Amino acid sequence: MKKSVKDYDLSGKKVVLRCDLNVPIKEGNILDDTRIKASLETINYILDNGGCCIILSHLGKVKEKSDLEKNNLYPVSVRLGELLNKEVKFLPNTRGDDVDSMAENLKPGEVMLIQNTRYEDLDGKKESGCDLELAKYWASLGDVFINDAYGTCHRAHASNVGICKFLPSGLGFLPSREIEKIDGIMNEDTHPFVVIMGGAKVSDKIKVIENLINKCDKLLIGGAMAYTFLRAKGYNIGSSILDADSIEFCKEMLDKYSDKIFLPVDSLVASSGDSDGFVIKNVSKFSDGDMGLDIGPDTVELFKNNLNGAKRIVINGTMGYYENDKFAGGTKAIYDYIIDNNIKTLVGGGDSAASVNKLSNPLKFYHISTGGGATLEYLEGKNLPGISAIDEKEEG
Ligand code: 3PG
Repeated sequence: MKKSVKDYDLSGKKVVLRCDLNVPIKEGNILDDTRIKASLETINYILDNGGCCIILSHLGKVKEKSDLEKNNLYPVSVRLGELLNKEVKFLPNTRGDDVDSMAENLKPGEVMLIQNTRYEDLDGKKESGCDLELAKYWASLGDVFINDAYGTCHRAHASNVGICKFLPSGLGFLPSREIEKIDGIMNEDTHPFVVIMGGAKVSDKIKVIENLINKCDKLLIGGAMAYTFLRAKGYNIGSSILDADSIEFCKEMLDKYSDKIFLPVDSLVASSGDSDGFVIKNVSKFSDGDMGLDIGPDTVELFKNNLNGAKRIVINGTMGYYENDKFAGGTKAIYDYIIDNNIKTLVGGGDSAASVNKLSNPLKFYHISTGGGATLEYLEGKNLPGISAIDEKEEG
């Protein structure tokens, strides 16, 4: 068992806290602060127990200089301060004298956030490449390391894995709860167990499908990835998103699990995701320019029939291009059915979580994961390096 933040006496301690504050930001405005809110419990626990927080987080990906400004963590520090109702001292650098002296002078109850850890990727991928010099430097700022960044646990980076080599470490409340919830639903022996998959690319989900197909009773496939499966069955999918490299995989799955896999029978079709209008077409009737953007009414009925009586559901991915309200109806109909029938449901994946916030009521679900790739990899059956790196609790 891994150590937790609760296993440390935090009084007077400087806690280096890795959070996943990777939130969508457009022109300096935070579009969804779910992840910031999800980190409050651990931050408040540390502060209430006499510690101070030196927070590290990544934001987006930094590959070239032009990525710096849009991935500046400053707006996050402002929102975090509002939510905590206290000042969050922000440093525009990831290391150096300013960082040293702010950390050195930080008092119990205070919070500081340094610049996006991936700014270090510009110079030789030091963060993503798990550079140990860098990890050692961040470790030198505090007395104990707590990893609360569940969404980043599938990465082995300097700020979450490398740093564990240099400080005593523990898990924050968020990763512990996420894992407990996923294990909770996956290990339960109740049936029917239905998996609903969507999203754009089959190739991102191959391992999850392989891992879940034998555990579930039914697999309902919607979203853009359904069109690669339909293509594998020989349909003309028009200009719908196609993941050509995965056609063979889809064929194999359909041959092997024809009794378990359910695909759309009709779609909302338009020329692009920005279209104002659409027509409903049977999936066997697509013309060349048709792009499938949501599941149609017959598919909604088909999927509801297959969810009837389900004891547990795992959802990864949306049924359509829900960002455009015109194509959000299929995803919403499935969520409404789940809520009306009170079915225990785990929702995993960044887009799926955002779609629940937009179209439904997250409080009505068993669990909405804050993780995208992390939840996907955990559902694939992999160990998450961000968790493995944490100190073990001594037994007894
Ligand atoms: C996520 O959004 O899934 C996490 O913050 C990890 O981000 P990454 O895929 O850029 O590593």
